[in-house]
Amino acid sequence: MYQIGGILKTVREQKGVQLIDVQTQTGIDLSQLSRIENGKRLPTPEQLKELSSLYGIDSTTMQIQRQSDKIITTLENLEYGLESLAVAREKILHGNDYVSMFCDTHFTKPIALSSRRYIGSKAKLLDWIFDTIDANTDRINTFCDIFAGTGVVANVALSRYRHVIMNDLLYSNNIIYKAFFSPGEWDKEKVAAYIERYNALDPNKLRENYFSKNFGGKFFEASEAKRIGYIRQDIENHKKELTEKEYNVLLATLIYNIDKIANTLGHFEAYIRKPIEHKPLCLKIIDAKEFQNVEIFREDSNKLARRIHCDVVYIDPPYNSRQYSRFYHVYETLVKWNKPKLSGVAMKPPQENMSEYCSSRAGQAMRDLVNSIDARYIVVSYNNTYKSKSSSSENKIQFDELIGILNEVGETRIFEHGHRAFNAGKTEFTDHKEFLFVTRKHE
Ligand SMILES: C[S@@+](CC[C@H](N)C(=O)[O-])C[C@H]1O[C@@H](n2cnc3c(N)ncnc32)[C@H](O)[C@@H]1O
Repeated sequence: MYQIGGILKTVREQKGVQLIDVQTQTGIDLSQLSRIENGKRLPTPEQLKELSSLYGIDSTTMQIQRQSDKIITTLENLEYGLESLAVAREKILHGNDYVSMFCDTHFTKPIALSSRRYIGSKAKLLDWIFDTIDANTDRINTFCDIFAGTGVVANVALSRYRHVIMNDLLYSNNIIYKAFFSPGEWDKEKVAAYIERYNALDPNKLRENYFSKNFGGKFFEASEAKRIGYIRQDIENHKKELTEKEYNVLLATLIYNIDKIANTLGHFEAYIRKPIEHKPLCLKIIDAKEFQNVEIFREDSNKLARRIHCDVVYIDPPYNSRQYSRFYHVYETLVKWNKPKLSGVAMKPPQENMSEYCSSRAGQAMRDLVNSIDARYIVVSYNNTYKSKSSSSENKIQFDELIGILNEVGETRIFEHGHRAFNAGKTEFTDHKEFLFVTRKHE
């Protein structure tokens, strides 16, 4: 039964036209017309054009009606008819990108913690760091990663030690740690359903929002920025229906996926000033786990140091004047979602979480930290960028100064590793080296 027949009949009767007159004016046979109106036969596109013109109705609207009738009759199983139609819609929307989008969501591994672009990430140095720690420490039960950044160091520690403390000033990092590590109830299928709904969004049907108005056409392609803002707001709107872990997994999933389409060199101090290539956002869930042996903080390192005890504290602070809260301000804004007024070319929020370690007080802060923390071993990561041409990349604590600070509290051994530096484009690091200081604190 084709529904277009009923529509044509209603219009004809409203116009007060007899079927015989329709035959005369269109040349369509009377019995065919009657079968069409009874829904037993589909008019051909040409016949429909004639009829639309005769009745003075929009031809495209009627062709769409005809096509939808045709689609419905091809559905083999009405039980999943609606879902099939929704998928067909996505296929039309995404064209050739659809196959890879589908495979990415359904058949590939969830996104790994270490896959994020983050300045100073130690993802490539983990074996060396832990081999050095193993060879130079003993009886480690509690490990503290007090400037945890991406969390990749703490992640390895979680599989080795009885208790792991991780901390970072940034809101976005804190959400990411909770999403990847914290224990808590969550339903993976429920989160996957949210993600599928977000992947099916048509950005053309979305309104401009806080995120797209501020970051569209800069850090993200305009229509994808609309999608990101919509998704962020939707997560907030559903907060009451989500457990804390589900909420954190959705937010961290959003951050990890937009990192892959951001128009940047890996941080948000600046965006690339070229037309932005349109890469559709296709969310893939993060590899969230639950650990019982983790404690997560978002505090200033020096304040936290006064309250905790650990066997090893791993210290990997910022090395130069470039603040992480400014590098990753877009994620901070996205996570906090209090929609502040943003300013400057990079659309930054008002300053928050500015680190002492990026200032001329870095040496004092480090001295205070190593003195106040109750730890048997202090392990410090350090890289020498101080010969850099750019002053913002100069180390705030010089190599010898750091040795002096550590020697005040214990015996220090220094280990060196060859490593290529982060390079934002202009700065050249010629003799960049990565060091690990291991200090056994005096009793
Ligand atoms: C060099 S990164 C750490 C990188 C990390 N080890 C990794 O592998 O990803 C330094 C981190 O320290 C954080 N930070 C800076 N000052 C801080 C402070 N006073 N207290 C806590 N975290 C701080 C920054 O947000 C940044 O994530």
